[in-house]
Amino acid sequence: MKIKSADFVMSNSDVAKCPNEPLPEYAFIGRSNVGKSSLINMLTERKSLAKISGRPGKTQLINHFKINGNWFLVDLPGYGYARVSKKNKKTFQKYITDYFVKRTQLVSAFVLVDIRHTPQKIDLEFMEYLGENRIPFSIVFTKADKLNAKTIEKNVAVYLKELLLGAWEEAPRHFITSSSKNIGRDELLSYIDLINQQ
Ligand code: GTP
Ligand code: MG
Repeated sequence: MKIKSADFVMSNSDVAKCPNEPLPEYAFIGRSNVGKSSLINMLTERKSLAKISGRPGKTQLINHFKINGNWFLVDLPGYGYARVSKKNKKTFQKYITDYFVKRTQLVSAFVLVDIRHTPQKIDLEFMEYLGENRIPFSIVFTKADKLNAKTIEKNVAVYLKELLLGAWEEAPRHFITSSSKNIGRDELLSYIDLINQQ
């Protein structure tokens, strides 16, 4: 797919105030610093469309970017835990979960994980949360430029195996990407294009 236009539309913390247009959208989620905003810039070939930073916590709001005038990419803040007082139960930030549960325009989520790391509890729990809420998602391994091909293959295999040992009967679709080396762009865009045409 060719990206003819990529425009920032709005930022906000309230899902009810997100763009009121019936266009398909795809959201990028994952821990702080995993490379969500960088990936959006890589996909759109716009260097500073989404704000990036070496310091975690750069993206603080729900950011909508309109692509080719007919679909949205959504950049979200990194998730973390907020403690619910009574049962000391762990949960995800309220407006992130609100976004996933209430945003009817959401077609699919991309859960980003750093390819250098072993599976992390918070990511596995977030994928479980998406599964429980029947929200389709794919895994995007980021920062592939940091490892050699053999290690990438090994780490991906470890990750998918862990998912299959857990709640998943089938491994989710996955992509291997590097925003600095432009790896995985065509695959991701073709996938989105395919869904948009369905
Ligand atoms: P928050 O908004 O804080 O949640 O972070 P984020 O997930 O949006 O990450 P961001 O895109 O801001 O990138 C975080 C850091 O990782 C920056 O220093 C980026 O330059 C770096 N980074 C992102 N993607 C890649 C990549 O593919 N390769 C390498 N080597 N660095 C990357
Ligand atoms: Mg960000």
